[in-house]
Amino acid sequence: MEVIDTLRRPLRDLRISVTDRCNFRCVYCMPKEVFGRDHRFLPRRELLTFEEIERVARVFVGLGVEKLRITGGEPLLRRDLEVLIEQLAGIGDLDLTLTTNGALLAQKAQALADAGLTRVTVSLDSLDDEVFRAMNDVDFPVARVLGGIDAAAEAGLPVKVNVVVKRGLNDGSILDMARRFRGTGHTVRFIEFMDVGATNGWRLDDVVPAAEVVRTIGAEFPLEPVDAAYRGEVAERYRYLDGAGEIGVIASVTQPFCGDCTRARISADGKLYTCLFAVRGHDLRAVLRSSADDEELAASIRSIWGKRTDRYSERRTEETAALRKVEMSYIGG
Ligand code: GTP
Ligand code: 5AD
Ligand code: SF4
Ligand code: SF4
Repeated sequence: MEVIDTLRRPLRDLRISVTDRCNFRCVYCMPKEVFGRDHRFLPRRELLTFEEIERVARVFVGLGVEKLRITGGEPLLRRDLEVLIEQLAGIGDLDLTLTTNGALLAQKAQALADAGLTRVTVSLDSLDDEVFRAMNDVDFPVARVLGGIDAAAEAGLPVKVNVVVKRGLNDGSILDMARRFRGTGHTVRFIEFMDVGATNGWRLDDVVPAAEVVRTIGAEFPLEPVDAAYRGEVAERYRYLDGAGEIGVIASVTQPFCGDCTRARISADGKLYTCLFAVRGHDLRAVLRSSADDEELAASIRSIWGKRTDRYSERRTEETAALRKVEMSYIGG
């Protein structure tokens, strides 16, 4: 059964965070000053178990969800993640994917593919080691992420590469990224730096508009726009005229896409968020743990989605950017 929110948007995608921890400290996501030694991560007992995740996912699928994305923090830090993937793959014919920083992908790719993952998205912000190390802030080398990408491709997983572009940091890496992945079959998507959370010191001046990314790449390798693959697709797609594949841009700041937003997010401790920029979530874990009745869970989700009015990106201002929103590493990308 389909559920529609107040702006007539159906519920189609569910993004599930499986941990709020990460082995990187990307400056735009988990700045070290905030996520240092003293930061309190969720204790284990607070996390949804694999059984709880599977149950909640199954109920969401019953309400019209067609795509499940596992996120974090860094999801591959959750022990035995491939076991969860296998449980989720058992729900039915779904797009079942994962967003990872790639650090542990080389060792995990085959097991994830065997478990039924359908594809993978790897974040990589630059091919220049110095720039990449400055962005992940844990001195992690580019080569190991590239190794993870290769391992995923060898395991038969289609790969997308996400690049968050921040002015003055990696805007000089845009062409390099395009050049490196042209012709590989991996689609690179350039994401505008967003004011998610309350700690990344976001300023509008740090955003490199998607149109500028397209101009920069198009000047070297001519591009033409491609129609969206599905309603509500976040990325705008462009194809290389010479047939070397495509790129995407995610213009969440300069061209917001709330009108078609069909995404729900669940934090690792089982809170349901109807927007990436929400200030608070709805406690699904309490419902999960207090009732064995799936219909009750479904009713609670239906009621939350039915009241949904979110369109944060369409209303963003320098003032809203300063609100105490949840952190990206907690809610997943
Ligand atoms: P595909 O399924 O491959 O099309 O990927 P996707 O675009 O659904 O997911 P992905 O996680 O790769 O999204 C890339 C980035 O886009 C995220 O990490 C966010 O930075 C941003 N993004 C995704 N969804 C939303 C959203 O609902 N709102 C906003 N403002 N940004 C989003
Ligand atoms: N702006 C845009 N994208 C972000 N991500 C994390 N923080 C931000 C931000 N401030 C992206 C990462 C990754 C996904 C988990 O979210 O690059 O692709
Ligand atoms: Fe970790 Fe991803 Fe956030 Fe970077 S963007 S700190 S890899 S969760
Ligand atoms: Fe959806 Fe909120 Fe992003 Fe708009 S800002 S696209 S409503 S998650």
